[in-house]
Amino acid sequence: MNFNLKDIPSQKGRIAIVTGANNGIGFETALAMAGYGFKVVMACRNLEKAQKAKSDILQKAPHADLDIIQLDLSDLDSVRTFAKNFKDNYTKLDVLINNAGVLVYSGKKNKAGTELQFATNHLGHFLLTNLLFELIPDTSVSRIVALSSLAHLEAKIHFDDINCERTDDKDAAYGQSKLANLFFANELDRRLKKANKKIVALAVHPGGSDSGLFDEMSRVKYYTFKILSPFILNSNVSAAKPSLFAALSPEVKGGEYFGPQGFREFKGKVGVAKRSKYSESEGVATRLWELSEEMTGQLFL
Ligand SMILES: NC(=O)c1ccc[n+]([C@@H]2O[C@H](COP(=O)([O-])OP(=O)(O)OC[C@H]3O[C@@H](n4cnc5c(N)ncnc54)[C@H](OP(=O)(O)O)[C@@H]3O)[C@@H](O)[C@H]2O)c1
Repeated sequence: MNFNLKDIPSQKGRIAIVTGANNGIGFETALAMAGYGFKVVMACRNLEKAQKAKSDILQKAPHADLDIIQLDLSDLDSVRTFAKNFKDNYTKLDVLINNAGVLVYSGKKNKAGTELQFATNHLGHFLLTNLLFELIPDTSVSRIVALSSLAHLEAKIHFDDINCERTDDKDAAYGQSKLANLFFANELDRRLKKANKKIVALAVHPGGSDSGLFDEMSRVKYYTFKILSPFILNSNVSAAKPSLFAALSPEVKGGEYFGPQGFREFKGKVGVAKRSKYSESEGVATRLWELSEEMTGQLFL
């Protein structure tokens, strides 16, 4: 890859949304995007946290052009309200970074009864992208970026048990949601190409980084993770690089999956990431797309 994040020309006049911009990788992504000149809309569920993150970004980048619009991705009504609020204020969207995510082990569901990680990480972003799609200019510099994970590698989509209630595997539901992110990017890109659109959809994973994501881990796992993370994982700044690469590199074509290239893809320079054979199934991708349309109550492309 020849692309260097230091060589990005000014992106003034362009608008980006980063979901979950108040913490971890999303915060660093929003900070960097604002530094490149984007107007960054921070799509966050908690307005207090979002205001604090906005102040922190402005301390580091006083010229950052930032806006906050409330968004709870676990709630499809909130996604619809966000889309309406965004459309009331903006006439285009150049880059959508579907970054927000949750990792829970407690079998939590959203108010519609859908498993929380599938609802938040996948369905919320699926509907958000659908509702904002008409604002995205049809050009190859327009980007829709999905944040997947190494956790997709062992995962399956449990079509007969989408809430993962009949499995003992505690990681199944998070893995399923992150696999769904990868399937979504692949299938979206296929549909864009079929419709002769130039907009680019692609997926990334950040490797591993010590963000707020792991707060619900068992305490033994959590403290082991905290001790080991400085040695084997990315910083949140580095973990944001695959997203920035996907959003800004002229080298991407759509449908790719990028991530760090070091040991086990935990950290390192950005390059093409390993994906599971299962994640390449067009049949599963189509089935998931149709299920997502059904669950969000809205056809897409
Ligand atoms: N860190 C890693 O090692 C790692 C590895 C692989 C993939 N990822 C992916 O990277 C992405 C960013 O995660 P992170 O590691 O930066 O974790 P994080 O520090 O916990 O940040 C997650 C962000 O998502 C937001 N969020 C959670 N639920 C939401 C909802 N219902 N509606 C709107 N926003 C919501 C959080 O908001 P609150 O602050 O209000 O909770 C927070 O801003 C996620 O998609 C995650 O799956 C991370």
